[in-house]
Amino acid sequence: MLKGHTAIITGGSRGIGAAVAKKLASMGADIAVIYAGSDELAQKVCKECSDSYGVKAMAYKCNVADFEQTKETVAAIKNDLGNIGILVNNAGITRDGLIATMKEAAFDEVIDTNLKGSFNLIRHVCPLMIRGKYGRIINISSVSGIMGNPGQINYSASKAGVIGLTKTTARELASKGITCNAIAPGFIATDMTKDLAQTNQDILNAIPLKRAGTPEDIAGAVAFLVTADYVTGDVIRVDGGMAI
Ligand code: NAI
Repeated sequence: MLKGHTAIITGGSRGIGAAVAKKLASMGADIAVIYAGSDELAQKVCKECSDSYGVKAMAYKCNVADFEQTKETVAAIKNDLGNIGILVNNAGITRDGLIATMKEAAFDEVIDTNLKGSFNLIRHVCPLMIRGKYGRIINISSVSGIMGNPGQINYSASKAGVIGLTKTTARELASKGITCNAIAPGFIATDMTKDLAQTNQDILNAIPLKRAGTPEDIAGAVAFLVTADYVTGDVIRVDGGMAI
């Protein structure tokens, strides 16, 4: 279905990003995993994509917050895999703390990774999509960007920013055959949330569907948006009803 397209997935080495990479590979896309952490994990995801689905899959170590590095990485992906049609901006971090005591660095780091990182990739990929007259951009936001969340002023600001970025990108690029949408996950069981184990039960009680989401729940929504030609500028909550 996606044969002939390359999909870039930032933060594709684990968690939600790894599930998205495998899902898009299962649909026939060649895969470029951008990651910041473990080389081994990134290579493992690529191997699973190519062994299971016969697609090309390559890993690129790159800090999404760095404008020049992302520019060079996108050029390398185009050179190695060609025809970039899909971009999933998934890389993200948390540095939680209360407003009254949050360090400046904790605010800057989260905005730089989650918000500017998404801008950097869109900025470098969209000229290629415009030339190809096709693009599917999916940004991973959060219910924290919709509802706000105590202890996450930096994170919820970055994720609300991602929604604004999504809507403007959708409006600017619609005439070029490019759609841009956001997904707002709720509480998904990954490394990012494993330290919240103590408050797990309280969080689960606040979810109408009474369970944590899985990375595959988010990958399913990405697959929908990649194939939904008439949906753009939308924000889809995948949160078990958390933000109703
Ligand atoms: P995770 O912590 O398991 O994975 C994050 C990925 O981002 C890793 O592959 C990491 O290497 C990469 N990354 C981090 N900083 C980077 C940088 N500067 N440059 C390149 N790559 C970088 O997190 P998880 O849970 O899989 O989250 C994925 C996305 O979903 C994030 O944007 C997160 O904010 C969002 N999200 C997660 C929720 C959850 O409950 N787990 C809820 C709502 C949103």
